[in-house]
Amino acid sequence: MNQIIQSLHNRKSVRAYEKRSISPEDKREILMAAMAAPTAGNQQLYTILDITDQELKERLSVTCDNQPFIAKASMVLIFCADVQKWVDAFEEGNAQPRPPRGGGLYACSNRCSYCCAECCSGG
Ligand SMILES: Cc1cc2nc3c(=O)[nH]c(=O)nc-3n(C[C@H](O)[C@H](O)[C@H](O)COP(=O)(O)O)c2cc1C
Repeated sequence: MNQIIQSLHNRKSVRAYEKRSISPEDKREILMAAMAAPTAGNQQLYTILDITDQELKERLSVTCDNQPFIAKASMVLIFCADVQKWVDAFEEGNAQPRPPRGGGLYACSNRCSYCCAECCSGG
């Protein structure tokens, strides 16, 4: 079977983690894989926040639907749909972008999910 198809079949969600840190090299590889996700016009309208502060992880484990495993993960990434990047790009080109509307936010969060999925599929 094609290796990529095989990887897609083999992947699964994991919510119990080994107590070891992620090396900077591995973290970089994971982030680069996430950023390789295709986006419309390659606009990459997302921002990835790397949460390293334990106290913040604890808060997220409550505010993100009470999911305690978040606080136990060595690496916690938040994927934000970032419509402002679209506005910034147009302003950079001396164009007058219209203010972002709901559809833009939906499109961003959609692309953000692809990026997140690509990141998580790395195993
Ligand atoms: C957009 C999206 C949001 C998800 N949110 C959560 C979540 O908040 N907590 C969680 O434990 N799993 C979450 N999942 C993982 C799904 O529950 C999981 O992929 C699904 O149950 C299938 O299991 P599998 O990934 O092991 O095949 C999410 C998955 C997607 C695609």
